[in-house]
Amino acid sequence: MASAEDKEDQLVDPISSNPKFDRAESKIAVAGHPIHAMLVAFPIGLTGCAFGADLFYWWTGDLFWARAAIWGAGMAFLMGLAAGVSGTVELLSVPGIRARAASWTHFVVAMTLLSILGANWGFRLYGYEKALLPWGLMLSALSAGMALFAGWHGGKLVFDYQVGTSSTGN
Ligand code: HEM
Repeated sequence: MASAEDKEDQLVDPISSNPKFDRAESKIAVAGHPIHAMLVAFPIGLTGCAFGADLFYWWTGDLFWARAAIWGAGMAFLMGLAAGVSGTVELLSVPGIRARAASWTHFVVAMTLLSILGANWGFRLYGYEKALLPWGLMLSALSAGMALFAGWHGGKLVFDYQVGTSSTGN
C-alpha cells in the first residue's frame, strides 16, 4: 500500500504544471525593456511629490504648495492609469503572468491605489485649497502608503517570480 508520503509525491500542482507556466517574459516592451517598469516610477514619484507639497502647505500656508499638490495628485493619477493599462495588457496577454496568483494580487492592490489617486485628485478639483486640510492631506498620506505597497509588491513579482523578465540575457 502506498504511504502518505508517496501519495504526496504523486500530487500535481495544476498551476505550475501548466506548459505555459514559464512563459512570463514581458510582451509589452520596447527592444525587450518592459514599458510597465518604465512607467511605474511616475505614479510612485508623483504621489510622493503631492504628499510632500501637502505637508509644505500645512506647514507654511503658502498657496503655491496647494497648487503644486493638485498638479502632483492629478499627474500621479494620469500616469498611474497609463502604468495600469500597460500592466493590465501584460497580465492578460502573457500566459505565465496570468497563471500566477501573485500577479492578480498586484492587480487588486494597484486598482485600489488608482481609486485613491483618482479620489485625491477629483476631490481637489472643487477647490484645491479648501480640500487640502484635512482630507486632501489624509488621502495623500493613504496614497503614498498604497504606492509603496503596490511598488514593493510589483518588485516581488519581478525579483521573486521572475515575471516580466527576459530569458535571452546571459
Ligand atoms: C492596474 C493594473 C496593474 C497591473 C495589471 C500590473 C501588473 C504588473 C506586472 C505583470 C508586473 C511584472 C513586470 C512586467 O510584466 O512588466 C508588474 C511590475 C511592477 N508593477 Fe505593476 N501593474 C499594475 C499597476 C501598477 C501600478 C499603478 C504601480 C505603481 C505603484 C505598479 C508598480 C509596479 C512595480 C514597481 C513593478 C516592478 C517593475 C520592475 O522592477 O521591473 N503597478 N506589474
